[in-house]
Amino acid sequence: MTDVAAKDSLTVRDNRTGEEYDIAITDNTIAAKDLGQIRLTDDDPGLATYDPGFVNTASCRSAVTFIDGDKGILEYRGYPIEQLAEKSNFLEVAYLLIHGSLPTKEQYDTWVHEITYHTFVHENVKGFMHGFRYDAHPMGMLMASVGALSTFYPDARNISDADNRHMQIVRMIAKMPTLGAWSFRHAQGKPFVYPDNDLGYTANFLSMLFKMSEQKFEADERLVKALDVLFILHADHEQNCSTNAVRSVGSSQVDPYSAVAAGVGALYGPLHGGANEAVLRMLKRIGSKDNIPAFIEGVKDGNERLMGFGHRVYKNFDPRATIIKKACDDVFEVTGVNPLLEIAKELEKIALEDEYFVKRKLYPNVDFYSGLIYEAFQFPPEMFTVLFAIGRTPGWLAQWSELVQDKDQKIARPKQIYTGDRELTFTAASERWA
Ligand SMILES: CC(C)(COP(=O)(O)OP(=O)(O)OC[C@H]1O[C@@H](n2cnc3c(N)ncnc32)[C@H](O)[C@@H]1OP(=O)(O)O)[C@@H](O)C(=O)NCCC(=O)NCCS
Repeated sequence: MTDVAAKDSLTVRDNRTGEEYDIAITDNTIAAKDLGQIRLTDDDPGLATYDPGFVNTASCRSAVTFIDGDKGILEYRGYPIEQLAEKSNFLEVAYLLIHGSLPTKEQYDTWVHEITYHTFVHENVKGFMHGFRYDAHPMGMLMASVGALSTFYPDARNISDADNRHMQIVRMIAKMPTLGAWSFRHAQGKPFVYPDNDLGYTANFLSMLFKMSEQKFEADERLVKALDVLFILHADHEQNCSTNAVRSVGSSQVDPYSAVAAGVGALYGPLHGGANEAVLRMLKRIGSKDNIPAFIEGVKDGNERLMGFGHRVYKNFDPRATIIKKACDDVFEVTGVNPLLEIAKELEKIALEDEYFVKRKLYPNVDFYSGLIYEAFQFPPEMFTVLFAIGRTPGWLAQWSELVQDKDQKIARPKQIYTGDRELTFTAASERWA
């Protein structure tokens, strides 16, 4: 028996040996390595946990984002998402995520200045992006081009230097909209638009996306605000798949461009960043309010899935969905109502009253309305995930920065349970095929 204080500990009895172990409980977790002492023989590697998808394993300590899924709470550095969406802006939220506290006026002005003056990319990046096929997916282009930035800034590998880390963080937050907008323009066969540093972060992004021959592209303020809010809502979400990818790749001490490229890759997958596109497809398939009851019956029979409903973490409501619904109204005031909105609202109303959904705690998530907004901006569905990636960049970088300064962290290297053959005898091909 080990001598951990009785109260904050877990007593485990190994019924294979009859041996008992006391394992310390800290922050409601046990250290997985403490299970290693539970072994049958001295050369036994010891007990481990099996947790595909890390559904019940904490991989780090983090002070960036707090989520309480049952209560529908999301906070960045302690500030509720509702207040940030209403009263802040994306660059201030980015500062908060990266630095851990709100900026003074001077810090904010310096931050905005730094980000604004790093929006341009090296001219060779442009040539590189022109090399993609005419129909290249913009997310693939974004992933490749953010990874390629590591070759333009080789000093970025010096991750133990705080000033150097700051420089790369500024560059990446500044350049993601440029790369995202150019990926979009490439697919459209339109010339790339250089950043306009007179404009704010989100207004400049819209200019790089949509400007044609006009001297200056100034988007409607309500649209700028709505997209800025969407960026805020996507800025971080604790240890999700892409953040875990950034941390896992970053744990090898590679430069942050390569780590963020891994995050973009993870976000590209349909189980992570692609749900809002699926919502749009579903709404188009339903086609009219009259078809909703039959569709709901199909969901209840298990033949359909109500896309944009349900969440692994949020079991009462997704606080981001409430904010997005409001942004929808603001956007449609400018662009005119998307006829799919009526179907979405009716679908939500019916589903929220239906016992099947109530019993399973299924509520609209962030993706239920975001696709409708993006479509109103005239983004093709392939761009939806690019928008998500731009919003998520400060979160990825805040988590990366936390990782590289965390003394507890090691290179990510999970265990496995080996299920293959052992100790076979190899016979050379010339003999096997003789
Ligand atoms: C997000 C999601 C993957 C979470 O899944 P999860 O936490 O593993 O939840 P489960 O799959 O265990 O679902 C629990 C129950 O609700 C049902 N359910 C979950 N989401 C559902 C949905 N969108 N439509 C219909 N039924 C749903 C499941 O079939 C299951 O029912 P059962 O208990 O009768 O088997 C899931 O809700 C989903 O697929 N939603 C649609 C896709 C989506 O919007 N994704 C974006 C997330 S931000």
